[in-house]
Amino acid sequence: MNYEPMLIGKKILIGITGSIAAYKSILVVRLLVKAGADVKVVMTPAARDFVSPLVLSTLSRNKVIIEMAEGDEWSNHVMLGRWADVFLVAPLSCNTLAKMAHGLCDNILLAVYLSATCPVVVAPAMDEDMWQHPATQKNISALAEFGNHIISVRKGELGSGLFGEGRMAEPEEIVNYLVEHFFRAATLKGKKAIVTAGPTYEAIDPVRFIGNHSSGKMGFALAEALYLQGADVLLITGPTHESIPYEGLRVQRVVSAAEMFSAADTAFADADIIVMCAAVADFRPVEVAKEKIKKKTATLELSLTKTGDILKHLGSRKKKGQYLAGFALETENAEANAREKLSAKNADCIILNSLQDKAAGFGVDTNQVTIFDRSGTVLSLGLQSKKEIAKEIVSFIVSRIHE
Ligand code: PMT
Repeated sequence: MNYEPMLIGKKILIGITGSIAAYKSILVVRLLVKAGADVKVVMTPAARDFVSPLVLSTLSRNKVIIEMAEGDEWSNHVMLGRWADVFLVAPLSCNTLAKMAHGLCDNILLAVYLSATCPVVVAPAMDEDMWQHPATQKNISALAEFGNHIISVRKGELGSGLFGEGRMAEPEEIVNYLVEHFFRAATLKGKKAIVTAGPTYEAIDPVRFIGNHSSGKMGFALAEALYLQGADVLLITGPTHESIPYEGLRVQRVVSAAEMFSAADTAFADADIIVMCAAVADFRPVEVAKEKIKKKTATLELSLTKTGDILKHLGSRKKKGQYLAGFALETENAEANAREKLSAKNADCIILNSLQDKAAGFGVDTNQVTIFDRSGTVLSLGLQSKKEIAKEIVSFIVSRIHE
């Protein structure tokens, strides 16, 4: 995953305690450093039995701190807690959790914790019975009351070989948590955005539908890009396997064009930015058969009727200050059709996806698009990942709304 530029130059102190999950911290360090963060590691003495300081110092490019003092050199725990933008303790063992809850200070990690002036995030990891013990629950509540951030434990295979609650969140989830809670940009702070994504399914009978090949990837990437720029985002999506890694990004799942219409229409009045990426069905069956249609005849005729055009409807409701971006998916006369949609739907820009382009459009992780806007600007974005395309589309929108 590419978090840049959110993490570039951010100072992150990682505390590692004695838990089997410590091996995952290596990946946390790696992900953060790769994204441009400045990472330092502090460990409890017990953590040394689970993960090598040499690996961590090599990956973090900083000396790993384990002792309060080495020779005649004292480790300045106060300055470490002040240096960091965030102090992440991952994994947080049952033992260190208890000590943090009670203010004990018998190692450098605890001394840093007690003196830290930056936000503290903990990712607990332990066996299910230990996690569910009332003493542990009391301790975790105490940490939350102190204002620390808790990344909840996950259910899954545990170090003991048992299955249950107590597994530390995955490295990507931990990094996503840090990005979401501390490092989102403020460019679109205070702005509300709606994104539509995925296909719609129009029921024929209880088991069949008319759909299309949209995976939702492009729309999800756009929702994430807007959210990481600070917008308050509502993603309205048709059926897809995609998921959003940020808990604050609201997702409304719908099935049919009519449901998407109603969801977008309801949210529209308050929205500042609307990006319509969904591949909405243009037609739906006039009637939905109550029972499964039997294959008694050689041919079957379906009578279809047009669905409501959501983009056109929102375009007709658009007020000053609202920015409406539509997509156009074309197989022929791409540019002319995109320009026609721009005016017919009263959009501020149309993002053209041509199915003539290789490695672009439905399903794949890459895309290439051309943006047409009302001022006559034509911006071509060459083949790259949908995440990168999404960032560029969002930059384009930002440049237009801040004009
Ligand atoms: O989901 P992926 O697999 O990542 O693929 C991404 C994509 C190819 C679906 C996406 O990039 C894309 O091109 N989306 C638009 C698909 C489409 O339906 O285009 P269209 O030209 O038929 O529609 C024009 C615009 O009207 C679109 O903004 C569409 O959301 C909107 N529309 C269409 C029909 C309808 N009833 N209501 C609408 O609002």
